[in-house]
Amino acid sequence: MTEQHKPVEKTALSLSVNGRQQSIQVEPRTTLLEMLREQLDLTGAKPACERGECGACTVLLDERPVHACHLLAVQVARRNIVTVEGLAERPGFQQIVDAFVARDGGQCGYCTPGFAVAAYACIRDNPGADAQHIRWALVGHICRCNAYDSIVAGVLEALKRVP
Ligand code: FES
Ligand code: FES
Repeated sequence: MTEQHKPVEKTALSLSVNGRQQSIQVEPRTTLLEMLREQLDLTGAKPACERGECGACTVLLDERPVHACHLLAVQVARRNIVTVEGLAERPGFQQIVDAFVARDGGQCGYCTPGFAVAAYACIRDNPGADAQHIRWALVGHICRCNAYDSIVAGVLEALKRVP
């Protein structure tokens, strides 16, 4: 067997995902996004640019939004990850989804989970945010359908609806 074809040694990892403790084996090169989608079947975070430029893969790491494609799984050992699936179980998140729908905050919808995770963090941290503040909170998120104005309107609407 050549060096190139040797099986890659895996690392045992434990972490919390959506409030549940997980023990998992990953290759050193496995990204957090790959681990979530391919090993835990959590496909809400989307692969798009896969180089930290578009925000489609956004999840919460210890409650802060991060790009899951830009972190190795081994870097998040013993940390807390919350994906859009986990947020769906939290109070207030459905109001954000409903507000996005009411304001046409998505067209193809591919970017929407990433925007929704960032919107959740923005609303939680800044309940008095205005449009300018929201635009700053969403920096790093790209919508290929150019629905930015509707997305910001959706977050403003959500601010009125989230208790
Ligand atoms: S897929 Fe992660 S930032 Fe674009
Ligand atoms: S709604 Fe299509 S990429 Fe944003």
